[in-house]
Amino acid sequence: MNKFKIIGPSKIEGEIKISGSKNSALPILFSSLLTKEDIKIKNIPNIKDIDITLKLFKKIGVLIKKKKPLILNNQNIKNINLPYKLINKIRASIWLIGPMLIKFKKVKIYTPGGCNIGKRPINLHLYGLKKLGAKIKLKNNFIKIKIKNKKLIPNTIKLPQVSVGATITIIIVATLISGITTIKNSAIEPEIIDTINFLNTLGANIKHKNNTIIISGVKKLHGGIYKIIPDRIETGTYLIGSLISKGKIICYNTNPNLLRYVLKKLKVSGAEIKTGNDFIKLNMHKRPKAINIKTLPYPNFPTDLQPQFTVLNILAKGKSIITENIFPNRFNHVKELIKMGAKIKIKNNQIICKGIQKIFGTTIYAKDLRSAASLIIAACVAYGTTIIKDINFIYRGYENIEKKLNNLGIKIYKI
Ligand code: UD1
Repeated sequence: MNKFKIIGPSKIEGEIKISGSKNSALPILFSSLLTKEDIKIKNIPNIKDIDITLKLFKKIGVLIKKKKPLILNNQNIKNINLPYKLINKIRASIWLIGPMLIKFKKVKIYTPGGCNIGKRPINLHLYGLKKLGAKIKLKNNFIKIKIKNKKLIPNTIKLPQVSVGATITIIIVATLISGITTIKNSAIEPEIIDTINFLNTLGANIKHKNNTIIISGVKKLHGGIYKIIPDRIETGTYLIGSLISKGKIICYNTNPNLLRYVLKKLKVSGAEIKTGNDFIKLNMHKRPKAINIKTLPYPNFPTDLQPQFTVLNILAKGKSIITENIFPNRFNHVKELIKMGAKIKIKNNQIICKGIQKIFGTTIYAKDLRSAASLIIAACVAYGTTIIKDINFIYRGYENIEKKLNNLGIKIYKI
């Protein structure tokens, strides 16, 4: 495993181009398996999770005609048992079930892996599939899925809990089921809307209003060209990093509308923020004010920025409470930040911070993607040298992070 050496404190300051969204690119790639015609996808981020997905795609027979922009053809896909080692690498591999079930009427697959941020059940995916007529056998970590009575059926599905992944699973399957499927209490993250827009570009008929998604099944999808939305989590990470370093940053190729709630919180913390169609400019000249947040489904505060906001709060003026409602054990970063001098307590699903003026470099460990991001921005503003071990997690979701931070004035080295 690689390590990062970061020498601080430095300001995260300058201009940066934001990459395409990881959490859009993944469901869009998996839903592209529904068509036999060529698909061209622009703005795919160059990250590990996409590499793994494309490896998985090659195994099932997807033809990758071009890498940048990505051009795929899925007409010759095969229904093979994929190795656990590959399936287990990304949670998104669960989205293979939908296209495989539609095409081959049955699927056998290992349950997926993903980031180590606590329990990651798949019961809601399976609940949705059952409601659409699938028959499911689950043994240890292996799932066998068939179509009951040889026909998938449209349905009205009320999700007992909001889930991004399960919403995508249902959308993928229902797109090609004749009749109307309605998902109530659906997730409405921008990445879900992006996937819907992508499928509609290919001829699907999917509408959404508030927390309801209505899918009118079509017979087949055609090919198309689509551009993925900017990564709001990458944008947020650099904005928070710049804010805690009392820096000035302009994020280009982004979309401020996707970060409204987050920008509101950054303003309360003391940042000056200006936005345009595709940029966000942040300027911070004082110590931040502590912020209370509660992670909840979109349009509320995203759990994927919780670890980065924890770093803001450990350095802020005042005491704060972060309530983690999505992944109640998403605290991998906390122990490491304490090693850097932070004053943090965990109580149930809450992170309670007492802000201090300075943190200090030491040796710390990354344990999942977003905690790695939070430790990197902490190291940039820490006094002295920080060694972050097991840093490979960061490559799952952040394109060219060393180069981007280097351009923003950070002394960061891979060792
Ligand atoms: C997606 C994102 C991830 C983000 C998360 C929440 C991708 C590739 N990943 O993950 O970055 O942190 O949304 O915004 O898009 N749950 C169940 N049963 C299920 C499915 C989920 O109980 O079958 C629970 C989860 O444990 C969690 C909550 O529902 O507590 C929300 O999870 P979900 O929205 O499904 O997250 P993911 O799709 O895995």
